This record gives sequence, C-alpha cells and structure tokens, in this order.
Amino acid sequence: MLVCHCRAVNEDVVRDAIAAGAADEFDVAAACGAGSVCGGCVPTVTRILGECAGCPVAASAGPGARALMDAGGAHPLR
Ligand code: FES
Repeated sequence: MLVCHCRAVNEDVVRDAIAAGAADEFDVAAACGAGSVCGGCVPTVTRILGECAGCPVAASAGPGARALMDAGGAHPLR
C-alpha cells in the first residue's frame, strides 16, 4: 500500500524504517521521506508506528541508525 503519495513511499518501506530504529514520525520522515512534504500521510505513519510498537528492532539499529536518520537533515515539521 502506498503510504506517502508525495514521496512515493509504500508501507513496507515505512515498516523497514521502523525496524531499523525509527521511533516516531520524525524519524520515519528522516529515514524514508514519508511525511516530510505535505504531512497528509502522517496519521497513517502514526498508525503503522502503533502497530509496530513492541516489535523487535533490527540488531543493526541503535546509535548508528539514529545518526544515519539524523544525518537526513532537519524535518520541516520539527
Ligand atoms: S502524502 Fe506524505 S508528505 Fe504528502
């Protein structure tokens, strides 16, 4: 399912970002772009984050993954 029409990001990509350590909608936007333009998909991203709450985070996630997401630059909604 296409989640973000502005950035053409599908649900699998959002779930991958969460599995890699994205903990909120800002992290998801930094990781894959979903929610970084008009914000219309943020409720869907938030729903997916809720579904993934408590899901295992990839072993590669952690400070390195967080730094990678942070390197994406400032999010327009922050
Ligand atoms: S639909 Fe995702 S930012 Fe516009």
